[in-house]
Amino acid sequence: MNHLIAPSLLAADFTHLADAVELVNTSEADWFHLDVMDGRFVPNISFGMFIIKQIKSIAKKPLDVHLMILEPEKYIEQFRDAGADVITVHYEACPHIHRTIAQIKETGAKAGVAINPGTPVSVLDDILEDLDMVLLMSVNPGFGGQKFIYRTINKVEQLKEKMAIRNLNKLIEIDGGVGLQNAEALLKAGANVLVAGSSVFKADDPTEAVKRLKAIGKGSLLV
Ligand code: DX5
Ligand code: ZN
Repeated sequence: MNHLIAPSLLAADFTHLADAVELVNTSEADWFHLDVMDGRFVPNISFGMFIIKQIKSIAKKPLDVHLMILEPEKYIEQFRDAGADVITVHYEACPHIHRTIAQIKETGAKAGVAINPGTPVSVLDDILEDLDMVLLMSVNPGFGGQKFIYRTINKVEQLKEKMAIRNLNKLIEIDGGVGLQNAEALLKAGANVLVAGSSVFKADDPTEAVKRLKAIGKGSLLV
């Protein structure tokens, strides 16, 4: 399948939020990546369902909601009501991850599970069949603009291998420090959804940045 590009609005200028949404709407981007932070699971606070609902009212593409919060099970229905199409929770934040995945699916949203850079892919062994997407963090969650951790590429390969053995074809999303410098290696390893915050919104021409990320592997626009 063609890979998906999910610009993270965390890197956008929130005084012109509508412009950022419009940029994603009109670019070749596939999803909106929305980072929810609670100041407890991660050392930062971002935005919640109130903002997501407003984004939904003008978004023309699916909302990929990344919950970096403790006790996400308390809020799944609210995020779905706000417009989330994909809801990803952190393995490290869910003592009953199997139940939480089922809860997400019951709302009709796609279910994703994220793991931090320090968490091995083996923790997913007993839930791989149940989820729709794995999100591999390639930075420690909490902030945009951090340096990509290269070991993530090995984790993509490990995960891809596990899926191949079990004949599974789930989405593998990479989040943190992703840009043209590492996107090709990630896609070769088996990733198929790339989150891009700074590399899109801090670029001189964000639409062009999305276009280039999208064109990787298609033999054109590779500079
Ligand atoms: C980090 C967030 C990321 C972040 C990515 O905790 O989950 O989605 O916005 O931003 P960049 O691409 O700038 O690393
Ligand atoms: Zn994210």
